[in-house]
Formats: sequence, structure tokens, C-alpha cells
Amino acid sequence: MADQGSGRERWGSRTGFVMAAVGSAIGLGNVWRFPYICYQNGGGAFLIPFFFALFTCGFPLLMLEFAMGKRAQGGAPQAFHAIRPFMAWAGWLACLCAFVIVTYYCVIMAWSWDYVWYSIKMAWGTDAEGFFREHVLNLTSGPGILGVIQGPIVIGLILTWIAILAILWKGIRSVGRVVLVTVPLPALCLAVLAVRGLTLPGAVDGVTYYLQPDFVKLTDPRVWLAAYGQVLFSLSLGMAVLAAYASYLPRDADISNNAFMTGFANCGFSFFAGFAVFSALGFLAYQTGVPVQDVVESGPDLAFITYPTIISQLPFWAPFFGVVFFLMLLTLGIDSAFSLVEGFATPLRDTFGTKHIKVVIWLCIIGLAIGIIYVTRGGFYWLDIVDHHVSDYGLVTIALVECIVVGWIFGARRLRREMNETSEVKIGSWWDICIMAITPLVLGYFLISSLIKGIIEPYGDYPAWANWVGGWGMIILVIAISIFLGTKYHRKGVK
Ligand code: PHE
Repeated sequence: MADQGSGRERWGSRTGFVMAAVGSAIGLGNVWRFPYICYQNGGGAFLIPFFFALFTCGFPLLMLEFAMGKRAQGGAPQAFHAIRPFMAWAGWLACLCAFVIVTYYCVIMAWSWDYVWYSIKMAWGTDAEGFFREHVLNLTSGPGILGVIQGPIVIGLILTWIAILAILWKGIRSVGRVVLVTVPLPALCLAVLAVRGLTLPGAVDGVTYYLQPDFVKLTDPRVWLAAYGQVLFSLSLGMAVLAAYASYLPRDADISNNAFMTGFANCGFSFFAGFAVFSALGFLAYQTGVPVQDVVESGPDLAFITYPTIISQLPFWAPFFGVVFFLMLLTLGIDSAFSLVEGFATPLRDTFGTKHIKVVIWLCIIGLAIGIIYVTRGGFYWLDIVDHHVSDYGLVTIALVECIVVGWIFGARRLRREMNETSEVKIGSWWDICIMAITPLVLGYFLISSLIKGIIEPYGDYPAWANWVGGWGMIILVIAISIFLGTKYHRKGVK
């Protein structure tokens, strides 16, 4: 790729950039979120709202974030600043939400490190649930009691942060090389697990549950909202990551085709992951003699309780498949995790002129320190509360602001024209309609309805104060810091 003489660091190749975007998108969510959401929202029929959301929100926003980062040659705050200086805060908000997410995302990776080790010995025995809750997490009775720090998880957490530091150490060029390993490796692990899963008894029943179409569900607006939520989270949109990555592209780089490749690779992986997950669930149902719907799980429960239970039941090489599964989670997670850090590091460095490595070291130290809260005995509750609030409200808010700022303030058509000047696939006016109308309307509805729901019935069974501190308190804090940084940055101007 030609350097434009700006002195800014560049990706070593186009593949490096696309793979890094794909690596960020393909994460834990593809394995433990997509298959479950698909199953729950109409099975095969869910692919209709999913593709609708992908084309009206996923691809348009991917292009928007790529284009914003590239034209500003800077991360999210710079990208907003280049459109309207007073909007820089929205970029910082994305950065801070990303940083909050990475502090707990790394904790989940820490559990995965530990489980690679536990798999070798099949340490969970016959009670994977008890092992996870009482031994690994050693849960207290509620978020009010933090209790001691769990040693093995801290070790995993330190390993994760060291890995992030090592990968980001040399800047974006080395990221471009690392992803050549961290993207294909989990795909390979997934292929191994899918072949194993699909050849087990009961697999067909599992897959049937995953994809059996229920078209009646499509009349429920919640199914369509679920599709939008999944597309946003899965493509790493609204999190400052893609703008930062795109800021290292030369000005003549393609936008639209890169976005299509990223989106399709990510969705292909999700769809395929469903086969690995549901075939294994079908096997579990077959072994235990219960219907598939009684064993279906998502999130940490799927990865750290249900899957270990399945591994124990495998006829041969059980520890091997256990190691493959948790290695897959690690390699899936690592490129999402370092992308979240880079999304914050890039604008911090550009704004304050600090050396890249210094910023990265500090972010890693602070991220590790914050993570300590989540590795206490009560930490799991906090992880759950923070995750719910930041990823449910944060992502949607930022994506909505992006649509309004670009669609209505800057002009969707203007950005599309800029994009088309250098893009291989020329984008038509459908893009403007998505950015100006369809996506903001859906996201606006999404945000308002989930805020109302969140206020009427507080999340989970947690005491109200815990939701206030970890949820709303966290949101208010993050917004306040963003506004502070946004105004400070505004005074400093673009560097
Ligand atoms: N897309 C990642 C996943 O599916 C999560 C993620 C969200 C990563 C936002 C970076 C930014 O797991």
C-alpha cells in the first residue's frame, strides 16, 4: 500500500487490514451468542431479519466507520472532530465503552486459559456446573460481597494482558501479521469441533433445533431488534475499533469491498459455529435423554458448563477436544481484545502526542488493574451487570449518533461520494436511505424501548444499588469523561 507521505504508520498490506477487522469482529460472540439468538428467534427464519439487519445496518455502518477513520486519518474522536469539532466527545465515548468492555472481556479469556489447563486433566469431573461456580469462580452470595481474589484467574488475566501488550508493542504492522495466525487458527479449531460434533449421535436433532424455521416469529418486533443487536455487537461496530484501524489506511484505499469481505467472513463464521455448538448440544440431549431445548444455553454457561459436560461424554480423546475448544475461545478472543485496546490507544496517542508504546503500556496496566474487581469471588456479578449496561446501551447509542452526525449533519451523500472515489464496488443511494432513515429509526426505537424496560424492571436479581453503581453509574461516569476529553481535545485541535 502506498504511503501518502503523511508519516503515519501504515498496514503492511490490504490483507492485514481486512484480517484485523475480521479478527475484531469474530469473537466470543460468534460462538456463544449467534447460535443461541438464532435458535431463540425463529431458527432458520431468523436468517431473514439477520440479513436484513446486515444489509441495512451492518454493511452501511462498516463502510461509514471505515470511511470516517480513513478520511480523518485518526481514531473515533478525530473522525467525529473532522465532521464537527463539538462532536469529538462521541468518539471518546466509543473509546471508553470499548475500554470498559475489554476489562471484562479479558477476564473471560482468563477463564479460558484456566480451562485449557483443566481440560488436560478434565478437572471438572462429573459436575461441570459446581466446578465452575464453586471452584473456579467460588461465587459469593451477591455483588455486595467481593471476597478474595481467585489466584488462577489472575494468572490467566495477566497472561492475557501480556499477550495484548506484546502484540500491540510494535504497532499496526505487527498487528497485521499477528492476525494472519489468530484469524485462521480458531477457524481451524471450529472445523475440528464441527466435524467431531456432526459425527456424534443426536447431532442431527441438535442442528434441526438450530435451524428449524419458525416464520411466525418474524411478526415479533423483538426478533428484528435482536438481529440488529447481534449485527452491531458482532461486527464490533460503535466501539472506536474500526475507525482506528481504518486510520492506518492510505487515502486511496478501498472502502466498500473491504466492508463486504469483513461482514461476510464474520457472518459465515457465526453460521458455521452454530453447527459445532448445536450438534454438540444434540449429542448431550441424546446422552442424557432430555429434549434439546432443555440443554440449550448461551454465554459463559454454554462455554464453561455445558461444553465441559459434553466433553466429558465424548467417547474418545475428550481432553484433546477440550483443549481445542478452549484454545479456540482464546484465539477468537485475543484479536477482539487487542482491537478494543488499539481503538483507544490510537486516538490517545494522536491527541496527546505520547509515544504509542507508552500509551499501550499504560492502558494494559490500567485494564489489568480494573480487571481485578472481576476476578474476586463476587466479580462475576459485576461483570454481568457492566456487560449488560455497556453493551446494550453503549453500542446502540454510539451507532445512532454516527448515523445522525453523518446522515444529517455531514450528509450521507457527501460521504458516499468520497467513498466511491476510491472504492472498487460503487455504492448506490440505498446507502443514504439506510444511514439516514432505516438504521437510526430502528436503533432509536431499540434504545428507547430498552431504556424504558431497564428503568421499569432493573436488570437481573441484583439489588438496586448494584445496578446503579455498575450500570447507570458506570454509564454516567463514562459520558462525563468523554465530554471532558471531548472539550479538552476540541481546544487542542487535530494533531
Ligand atoms: N465482535 C466481538 C464478538 O463477537 C466483540 C467485540 C465487540 C469486539 C466490540 C470488539 C468491539 O465477540
